[in-house]
Amino acid sequence: MTVREAFVFARKSLSDYEARIVMEELFRLGRWDLSEKAGEMFDVQSEERLREVVRQRTEGMPLQYLLGHWTFMDREYAVGEGVLIPRDDTEVAVRKCLKFAEKMSAPKVLDLCAGSGIIALTIAQECPDAEVTAVEKEERALYYLRENVQAHQAVNVQVMQGDIFDCHTKIENNSFDLLVSNPPYIRTDELPALQKEVQREPRTALDGGQDGLMFYRCIAESWTAKLHQGGRMVLEIGEEQAQAVTELLYLHGFEDIGTIQDIQGLDRVVYGTKK
Ligand SMILES: C[S@@+](CC[C@H](N)C(=O)[O-])C[C@H]1O[C@@H](n2cnc3c(N)ncnc32)[C@H](O)[C@@H]1O
Repeated sequence: MTVREAFVFARKSLSDYEARIVMEELFRLGRWDLSEKAGEMFDVQSEERLREVVRQRTEGMPLQYLLGHWTFMDREYAVGEGVLIPRDDTEVAVRKCLKFAEKMSAPKVLDLCAGSGIIALTIAQECPDAEVTAVEKEERALYYLRENVQAHQAVNVQVMQGDIFDCHTKIENNSFDLLVSNPPYIRTDELPALQKEVQREPRTALDGGQDGLMFYRCIAESWTAKLHQGGRMVLEIGEEQAQAVTELLYLHGFEDIGTIQDIQGLDRVVYGTKK
């Protein structure tokens, strides 16, 4: 199989965009190489790898898992089965956190349900004087979280393994300036209808319980006390959850509560300040 034949093979099952990414990322054959080296032989091992990747991709394995990494806000993160793939939507919450952090000196930041660590690590690197604690429960997600903390040499990120429904008892009250979370927020009955790629992501990263609000209730009830007075909370939400999450923050002693929309105009973040 030549390089040209390899690309044509990939193109039969994948979009042009994905076929090019696979050739570039897995075989180091960029746009230029594809034409320059079109007649060169693709070695047997590469051919086997390509066939396997195309097979897995057509069976619904997300491209990001096959590549083993993905970019979020211009930084690269290791990802694989067992951890949520970074979404551009999460940038809305991160940007709000960075805005709040700008006005804080050496902020103490808590990221609940940290997954691959994209939120904790972006804040930690954009605000080098911040001290960030990233809490995650699932072993497989923790593997990627630790890998990413190490790869980014983020000495100001501390990883804590814990279930947010009980590990709040291990953290002192009034000890954080900023609490951020992108928790699981999809209603349990909506899970079966998700796209096949999303179904390959861990259910534990998606399932927000019967009404999708289980994690927000826990955060508002059990984690508000971890913030100082005047501390900020920033929560990523599903597009129909702004009102319910706003009410939760209001009920648990927040003021200056607001909602931010994403690029599509959908509600994506609710934030507030602890009274
Ligand atoms: C929607 S994902 C968000 C991951 C990451 N923050 C991001 O924005 O890409 C939610 C994360 O919460 C974790 N999680 C689920 N239940 C948890 C619990 N009870 N305590 C702590 N983390 C939990 C999941 O493993 C998953 O990594």
